[in-house]
Amino acid sequence: MGLKTNEEKDVLVEPEDDVFYYGKCVWSCRGQRISLIPILTIIAIVILSVSFFLYTVVFLDELLSKPFNSACEISTQPQCDNIPESQRFDCFPETYLVTKEKCEARGCCWWPFLSRPEMLGKVPWCFYSRDYQGYIVDSLNQTATGMTAMLSRSTKSSWPNDIMTLQLDVNFESNERLHFKIYDPHNSRYEVPLKLFPASEPVGAPDYDVSIAKQGPFSITVTRKSTGQKLFETAGTSPLIFADQFIQISTVLSSPFVYGLGEHRGSFLIDTNWTKLVLWNVDHPPERNVNLYGFHPFYLNVEGDGKAHGVFLLNSNAMAVEVQPFPALTYRTTGGILDFYVFMGPSSDNVIQQYTGLIGRSFMPPFWALGFHLCRWGYQSSERTKEIIDRNRAANMPYDTQWNDIDYMDRHLDWTYDHDHYSSLMEVVQDLHNHGQHYVMIVDPGISIEQTPGSYQPYDEGIRDNVFVKDYNGSLIVGVVWPGKTVFPDWTHPNVSDYWFRQASRFRQQIPYDGLWIDMNEPSNFVDGSTIGCIGNDLDDPPFVPVGIVGGKLTAKTLCPSAKQYLSYHYNLHAMYGYGEMVASMSALKKILQKRSIVISRSTFPGSGVHGGHWTGDNKATWDDLMYSVSGIMNFQLFGIPLVGADICGFSGDTTPELCARWMQLGAFYPFMRNHNDLTAKDQDPAAFDSKTQDIIREALNLRYTLLPFLYYLFFRSHVDGSPVVRPVFFQYPVSDYNATLTVDIQFMWGSCLLITPAISQDETVGLGYLPKDTWYDFFTHEQNQSSGQWINFDTPAERINLKVRGGSIFPVMEPNVTTTLMRKNPLFGLFVALATDGTASGELYWDDGDQLDAYESGMYNHVSFSVQKNTLQSIVVKSGYISPEGMPLNRVTVLGVSSAPQSVVINKKKANYRYDLGSQTIYIDGGKMSLLSPITIGW
Ligand code: NOJ
Repeated sequence: MGLKTNEEKDVLVEPEDDVFYYGKCVWSCRGQRISLIPILTIIAIVILSVSFFLYTVVFLDELLSKPFNSACEISTQPQCDNIPESQRFDCFPETYLVTKEKCEARGCCWWPFLSRPEMLGKVPWCFYSRDYQGYIVDSLNQTATGMTAMLSRSTKSSWPNDIMTLQLDVNFESNERLHFKIYDPHNSRYEVPLKLFPASEPVGAPDYDVSIAKQGPFSITVTRKSTGQKLFETAGTSPLIFADQFIQISTVLSSPFVYGLGEHRGSFLIDTNWTKLVLWNVDHPPERNVNLYGFHPFYLNVEGDGKAHGVFLLNSNAMAVEVQPFPALTYRTTGGILDFYVFMGPSSDNVIQQYTGLIGRSFMPPFWALGFHLCRWGYQSSERTKEIIDRNRAANMPYDTQWNDIDYMDRHLDWTYDHDHYSSLMEVVQDLHNHGQHYVMIVDPGISIEQTPGSYQPYDEGIRDNVFVKDYNGSLIVGVVWPGKTVFPDWTHPNVSDYWFRQASRFRQQIPYDGLWIDMNEPSNFVDGSTIGCIGNDLDDPPFVPVGIVGGKLTAKTLCPSAKQYLSYHYNLHAMYGYGEMVASMSALKKILQKRSIVISRSTFPGSGVHGGHWTGDNKATWDDLMYSVSGIMNFQLFGIPLVGADICGFSGDTTPELCARWMQLGAFYPFMRNHNDLTAKDQDPAAFDSKTQDIIREALNLRYTLLPFLYYLFFRSHVDGSPVVRPVFFQYPVSDYNATLTVDIQFMWGSCLLITPAISQDETVGLGYLPKDTWYDFFTHEQNQSSGQWINFDTPAERINLKVRGGSIFPVMEPNVTTTLMRKNPLFGLFVALATDGTASGELYWDDGDQLDAYESGMYNHVSFSVQKNTLQSIVVKSGYISPEGMPLNRVTVLGVSSAPQSVVINKKKANYRYDLGSQTIYIDGGKMSLLSPITIGW
């Protein structure tokens, strides 16, 4: 089977620094506020009872042949004794329909008895025995940077084509990064062609140890030296299996606090009660327990003491990850190799910095991209698009970017527009530009094959450049998407970057768009495999397909895995399809625009954050979708893709004024803020609502725009250090009573300063949330709250979101306006200072021209840090490399937590105007338009 034969070659597809294909080519605990629990419990009990009854009938002979034992009774197989349910590792993961005969034929333990009926369908009945024969270590040698071992097995596993000999290389890459890799030393196999970045510092005295068992079955253990905590531990779990199309390895987790592994829908904290996650990119609306648009085999595990580590499996094959209560985690992948990285933290923030240090730091978005984006599928004409723009302008909504969906295209053909219905599109875009606004349009990867030869360059040139994906026999593989029959660019082909650039650049001469929205790039296909199906070999229909995969097969809603791409089979590269399109699209935009832009992609892979952002797909206009969006956004922070948002107000279904207003309030804190709507749903742009709702939405937008300099600073930090923009509460507060912060996933933070608590249900005016142990201020009223770390009621009045500021923070703000362009023309900077109990605070500001390419890398930026001690704020100009024509005047400083009226306020030794409010203990200081590019001292 074609996974492990072709000769190796180094391939370089993208030019210059956009290179991505270097590589070996081988061919809750959530605060539920409305309790449905009793009803759901009754339904669950009924379902479980019926299932249990059926199960009893089906396995009657089994039950009759033995008394009904409890799970802890002795079985007839000695090596199966006393394996607690939580430690049963599934020996038959490909199906639930396993029988005693089939199980024992695999040499596994059969024990179809469960401690509790609700464990049915979770705890496996067929599981590995303690003495299951697997790999043993033949040799183990130290190397200059780690160790290497040879492993072998003498018996076959139950999976076809075991690799009988394996090599393990362990590399201590830095103090923070450990790399180990298990592969076939004799035949090269597919390895993920992702550009990785070397560790920044050489290894010195790492806080980890690696040990390999020399006796008995192979096992590897990674330990945090300073605490003795085991971080990766395969002993006592399932055996290592390494067959051609089924590779399995398990690890004990250091705690049940595990996050990541996407893209999936659910609570942020992954439930260790037998959760099965599937990774295989598919066009499917967010739903629990199925695969979704993106592929991210990375998890963050918070250890008992608040320290954290991360584990990344660099593998792009269809994968199942099972998490069980031991707690343990099992990877089952359908190909490639086992290529692991462990990141030592020790803080969660450090882990993400280290992970993005490997896969690449996030791109720096242009300033305008942090403004509000408005979109819908189905404006149906440029006139209607213009009407929507006009009515939102008339309503004074802060609003930077208008988008168009596929209805702008001529018969859904990429790189065309409908000259009948969108004849004035050019004028619409020009008008946006005249108002300092921007325009983003959608492109899908499917290129129509149904046009008259010579009439459609995207197809004709693709054929000429040979850039389309082929089927197993080498003909073009044809699918069906919006324009009808289509072919698909192969993003691994050396010609594809130029090809895509040419299409994008030619079209931009017609419509001067500012960014690209790339959709349907899992890739999505309306027929399974292709118009003629798939050849049906073991790539299309492998021996292991993750249970729960949408459509039950790899071919569902996409191309045949047996299709051929330049670097390898689609089987191997499927997960990277959207990623490849992001690379080509961002590279084209940079060349065309010569300034920063955005690519927003539905399908993502590790490293996608280097080239663009993501929206979380086709959600619904429901409160549940609003609530789950927070976990979705936090997950993508872990994946190194900070520019992420959900479709605000909901994509499918009709929203309501209340839901939409609440969602706009929450969306104002998504790093990427876009309101987007389905073809048939009611209008939900801000101006579509009654005036009261509009007022609420306008306030939410004004608040976001006020905070944009802080958001921009957070993106700078992410770009430079890899710290997430949105942070789960436990990033700042890893230790709390009863691990409360580790379960919080409706609230989130911006950096280390702002705690956001959205309303998540209808008619809610107060919502349960967690207030970590610290000093907090209400952003609006400045009311102070000294928390000892408690679940409390947060006020969520209809008019606004609950926003708290951590005492000790300083962050930059700016007078809002209806566009970021206008804000920047008259940049009235402010500083928001919230004092800690000891009267200190600190923070920073980053500023550049907003869209120059590589502003940071070329030193064309300003960076100022601020600190407060003893009633004095001082700034230090860390870098002044960008001379803004408008200057950087300090307009206002707001200091919270000042318990008595100051005698005077002095800025750089001169008396300043100020106002003190005793009730809220706030000083409002007129900044006197002092330039932030010179050191400032303010005393009170
Ligand atoms: C699917 C996308 O997820 C959605 O956002 C878009 O509106 C439709 N495709 C139509 O392009």
